[in-house]
Amino acid sequence: MFERSRGGERALLIQPHPPGEPDPSRIEEFAELARSAGAQVVGQLAARLERPNPALLIGTGKVEEALALCEAAAADLVLVNHALSPVQERNLERALRRRVVDRTGLILDIFAQRARSHEGKLQVELAQLRHMATRLVRGWTHLERQRGGAIGLRGPGETQLETDRRLLARRVDQLQRRLRKVEVQQAQMRRARVRNEVPRVALVGYTNAGKSTLFNALTGAAAYAADQLFATLDPTVRRLPGLACGPLTLADTVGFIRDLPHDLVAAFRSTLAEAREADLLVHVIDAADPEREQRRHQVQQVLEEIGAAELPQLLVYNKIDRLEGFAPRVDQDAEGGPRQVWLSAASGAGLELLREVLERRFAERRIRRRVRLPCMAGRERARLFAAGAVLGESSDEQGWDIEVDLPRSVAERLCAEGGRYADALREQLLGTPAGEATDGC
Ligand code: GTP
Repeated sequence: MFERSRGGERALLIQPHPPGEPDPSRIEEFAELARSAGAQVVGQLAARLERPNPALLIGTGKVEEALALCEAAAADLVLVNHALSPVQERNLERALRRRVVDRTGLILDIFAQRARSHEGKLQVELAQLRHMATRLVRGWTHLERQRGGAIGLRGPGETQLETDRRLLARRVDQLQRRLRKVEVQQAQMRRARVRNEVPRVALVGYTNAGKSTLFNALTGAAAYAADQLFATLDPTVRRLPGLACGPLTLADTVGFIRDLPHDLVAAFRSTLAEAREADLLVHVIDAADPEREQRRHQVQQVLEEIGAAELPQLLVYNKIDRLEGFAPRVDQDAEGGPRQVWLSAASGAGLELLREVLERRFAERRIRRRVRLPCMAGRERARLFAAGAVLGESSDEQGWDIEVDLPRSVAERLCAEGGRYADALREQLLGTPAGEATDGC
């Protein structure tokens, strides 16, 4: 029905915004997302949302304005920077006579193009199917579907699923089973890394901050780095050798973005598990980005959503080569510890400073001693075993004497997991004051 231009689909962007002026940075970011999906942005329209219209989200006047803009700019597609209910999406498509894709659909589309590993592909397909399932109702084919992939339709879109919900359910089921298997394998690999007692560092940060470039520069690996949003969709884990403190593992993770749709946070659970289970998060920030502080805050919000906000964090301000007369440096926090490192992953300036900070942090890293746990502390004892920290033990009627050897970072994590005897364990392992709960059976 609609011709696709060779230069990618021509898209009109609609930016719904609360009363007041629209935020130009949101529009620009959405335009970047659209371009990342391969669209050519041919127009933008801000739409104030006083009271969201349940049928169309935006007001009918705005819909007319959007239609006129679409006609004038020969747009094939309308992208709405907001979540749309299936009904709103369908009504807008009818009114605008074009395909309409909401923010979640657009991000899913980009993820579909970027996923490379088996797991990443499964995750994307599952998230897409779930997103589609709510839209898969009779009469959905009011827009003729195009072959060859188009924004919002890539991935599973071109199969029979639009006519057969049963097939869809079966596929979701199959994907879930496969994913569970992959997740179990990944969890085993993560556990093996804990057993090998190699502390884990995860790079996190806003999309395009330069995580993959830093990852490559530190590990000498060739992870994919490109000036595209979400270039890294799958976690990549490498050993970081040559440090005085012994090796670390470094994980590169998916880039974060504000208002990351909740479905996606759930879908990328295992990607984000690398971040959630790290001993240290290195939060990479584009120092040359005028929005850098807001983006830092948005990353922090996603970290909160995935339960990683409390992990120790080191800030790395990257791309200082883009700032006039800026030399690499380390800023200290109030206690004199390193709080942030300023460097350029691309030029290599300041990489040594970061390596030194990591070395210092993990230098005092092994704890080898005997701990005494009462016999009620079975959970704490099991955790020591699960972490591969137990060299040997003896027991009497009051409890266990356990000879442990483990990295300090792992000990910190075990103690942070809580439990009745966590304080007793903490005092013995880390020497920090315990509360009560050292009583025997
Ligand atoms: P996502 O995969 O989207 O999360 O991106 P990322 O954070 O992994 O960013 P990536 O390493 O792909 O880099 C994004 C862009 O920034 C690329 O074009 C890099 O070449 C560029 N870049 C990264 N580090 C630097 C730097 O230190 N200086 C400059 N000038 N550019 C950099």
